[in-house]
Amino acid sequence: MARIREVDHDGTVVIVRFEDSTHRFHALWLRDNSLDPTTRSSVNGQRLVTINDIAADTRVTSCTTLDDGNALNVTFSPCGTTSVFSASWLATHAYDRTHATEPGWISADIQTWDRTTRADQLPRVSWKEMCDDDSHLLPWLSGVHALGVGIVTDMPRTPGFLCEMARRFSFVRETNYGMYFEVRAEVTPTNLAYTNLGLQAHTDNPYRDPVPTMQILACLENSVVGGESSVVDGFAIASRLRAEDPRAFALLASSPVRFAYDGTADVSLRAKRPIIECGPDGQLLAIRFNNRSTAPVVDVPFDTMPAFYDAYRKFASLVDNPDFAITFSLRPGDAFIVDNTRVLHARRAFSGSGHRWLQGCYVDKDGLESTLRVLEASA
Ligand code: FE2
Repeated sequence: MARIREVDHDGTVVIVRFEDSTHRFHALWLRDNSLDPTTRSSVNGQRLVTINDIAADTRVTSCTTLDDGNALNVTFSPCGTTSVFSASWLATHAYDRTHATEPGWISADIQTWDRTTRADQLPRVSWKEMCDDDSHLLPWLSGVHALGVGIVTDMPRTPGFLCEMARRFSFVRETNYGMYFEVRAEVTPTNLAYTNLGLQAHTDNPYRDPVPTMQILACLENSVVGGESSVVDGFAIASRLRAEDPRAFALLASSPVRFAYDGTADVSLRAKRPIIECGPDGQLLAIRFNNRSTAPVVDVPFDTMPAFYDAYRKFASLVDNPDFAITFSLRPGDAFIVDNTRVLHARRAFSGSGHRWLQGCYVDKDGLESTLRVLEASA
């Protein structure tokens, strides 16, 4: 628990000395983030003022510790507002620190993996455990958040049940494929997923904007030879590419790629995004990779196109490298979930005899993470 030892200010900046660190806060930042009930709703925590309600020449006029260093009392001018910040809140929100800047940095709560992680080490929960109480759901959600993949076992083999499972922790995203879709061999497939061919590891539906953020694939029948599922950590691949060829990484992070799907007469989907997406501070945010739905790349300059293709090929070679894949067979009643903004999934080819019946649906990642935070707060 952070405790404030000493505080000082010059009107524009407050210097807070904690027991093990020192952080500076701007007067304007503190005023904008004031926790008093005229600035923040005490009901829902939302801000009640706009930035233009706060004077640009806001200054701190007094600053004192309270409660034996566990809180800071700050008064501002010209508004005259007084706000109390807990020491732990200030420590949690300190921005006067070393910020990650290298392109493609990964948040500390994300754990990358490769084939050295065994399938039985992935977050796993049975449907009954998931329903029984939150003490099973919480560590599973936490694992899915960190690894981007998880397995649910012993689900009822009722068509469409995967949506009920998804609603235990998030919301189902309906698309032109419906609330959920069938993945089994078809005579005239509208999508190559509906054949018995192997599929290169990919993220789903990069032609949507926004892209579906999580995908669930549930197995209802599986008596074919082959057809194993693989998952590949796109963040691990991007990190490897950056380490081996930073220029290739930079090209894939800065080159717009177009994705398209016109598989049926009533659908024409388009999106334009990079294969590797980083945020404005360089944080690795998302991977989009799907050979079936990549449209002609027309937004890369002529002189850069050869280097783009070289980078694209290098990334694809890492996708195909078995060192990055975890492979497993789904039994009837099993399902797996992937973070579709990070983890690629693949299917090996299977024989024509027997049956392989999977159902898939898309789920909101923000809903899953919201449930995780709520459960963490109440644990
Ligand atoms: Fe897929």
